[in-house]
Amino acid sequence: MLDSCAEQGVTIQIATPHFYANHMQPEDFLRNRQAAYEKVVDYAGEKEISLLCGAEVAFFRSIGYSEILDEMTISDTRLLLLEMPFREWTSRDLKEVELLLRRGIHPIIAHIERFYSFQSDKGIIDDLIDMPVTIQVNAEALLSWRTRGKMLKLFRTQQAQLLGSDCHNLTSRPPNLQQGREVLEKKLGQTQLQEIDTLGMQLLKKYHR
Ligand SMILES: [Fe+2]
Repeated sequence: MLDSCAEQGVTIQIATPHFYANHMQPEDFLRNRQAAYEKVVDYAGEKEISLLCGAEVAFFRSIGYSEILDEMTISDTRLLLLEMPFREWTSRDLKEVELLLRRGIHPIIAHIERFYSFQSDKGIIDDLIDMPVTIQVNAEALLSWRTRGKMLKLFRTQQAQLLGSDCHNLTSRPPNLQQGREVLEKKLGQTQLQEIDTLGMQLLKKYHR
């Protein structure tokens, strides 16, 4: 996967293994993540990829008050990749996101495209987008005709700001950032890509601890 990422021009990669508070102990998660990091960090270096540790934290009740989040943010920053629940969202869910913001954590909402089908009132997604969070789209969503139009519109209207990609394996969910970037470039122009790249670097700096 690192070979593939290097070929796609990736120079900074944020590894975000899933963290599920309901069935994982934070200490176990952090130990496993560290062990995995140590296995690949030198190889990443050979590929001129600087590898950062993060986590894709699945939403859980009272996440707004959780004390474990400082360990789950992207290395040395207050950026948190947050996976919203795969169900109908409530105003209470959005309150939790608000609590995160209030305590200085900046949520990056993972793969926004995956949540539309769960909401009978799509307005609640707009409500989240309107909050001072960063919205991420998965490259996969730009490759499927089902989601492409909607996601291009989100980028065009600056409602979505970041593009990420899967990196689960080399078969069913391979890293495919480059393919997503090609779609963005073709449809919205080179400037769109520059904006994404610049914002990524800015966020790492702005929210550095
Ligand atoms: Fe996810």
